[in-house]
Amino acid sequence: MRLAGKTALITGAARGIGRAFAERYAAEGARVAIADIDLDRAAATAGHIGEAAFAIELDVSDQASIDQAIAAVAERTRGIDILINNAALFDLAPIVEITRQSYDRLFSINVAGSLFTLQAVARHMIARGQGGKIINMASQAGRRGEALVGVYCATKAAVISLTQSAGLDLIKHGINVNAIAPGVVDGDHWDHVDALFAAQEGLAPGEKKRQVGAAVPFGRMGTAADLTGMAVFLATPDADYIVAQTYNVDGGNWMN
Ligand SMILES: NC(=O)c1ccc[n+]([C@@H]2O[C@H](COP(=O)([O-])OP(=O)(O)OC[C@H]3O[C@@H](n4cnc5c(N)ncnc54)[C@H](O)[C@@H]3O)[C@@H](O)[C@H]2O)c1
Repeated sequence: MRLAGKTALITGAARGIGRAFAERYAAEGARVAIADIDLDRAAATAGHIGEAAFAIELDVSDQASIDQAIAAVAERTRGIDILINNAALFDLAPIVEITRQSYDRLFSINVAGSLFTLQAVARHMIARGQGGKIINMASQAGRRGEALVGVYCATKAAVISLTQSAGLDLIKHGINVNAIAPGVVDGDHWDHVDALFAAQEGLAPGEKKRQVGAAVPFGRMGTAADLTGMAVFLATPDADYIVAQTYNVDGGNWMN
């Protein structure tokens, strides 16, 4: 019960990695707000977790939605101790085919969404005066470019950079900002990525997943559960002296 008495707001927690974080946080004693644009799925996830969780509607690309969601969570709890900035979208296209629409959508959710959710939660934490922990979801995609993944890679590089700046600026308030950079994590997200690669590269369904899994030094794709230990650690006092860092949790794919 390493998070007993804490309240966590997790964006994009209706499914996938965010859902695994919510389940693990609840098991560690935290109260968890499952904040997602898909309210029905968020409610189902909260129902599955039980009393420790509740669903909240949030579109991280909409400032009014961010402000309302944070106010609603603050009202329902004793205040927000932990934010996991997890909601994000993926897209894939050769450089000469990237559209403005795809660029605007990914940057508005992955970058602006993360920054302005972090900003609103940081304001709440500063007013509360008890510090806090903010964890951004970066990616190995933010460590280097990929031929077909230009926009998503750029958004995740921006998340790493914002983690550094926010981490340096907010530590004086006792707010630790750090990030997790997963590698390839199996689930709904990668089913979608696999289908996009299949269309783009003429691969059989499942072949891209097989390739990326075989390339991981650990020997397989990650699972959401592989990431939860780091998400707990970064939210505990054991991480108090860790500031503005991005941790690779990727089976050995990337070193820095
Ligand atoms: N799966 C991977 O291989 C992988 C690898 C590296 C990094 N990541 C990162 O981890 C995080 C979680 O990934 P995942 O695989 O669980 O993704 P996912 O697509 O399974 O889940 C994303 C969730 O975000 C929600 N969402 C989408 N737009 C939103 C919005 N505007 N506001 C609020 N919620 C919104 C979706 O409804 C969904 O529940 C993301 O930041 C992703 O970039 C994933």
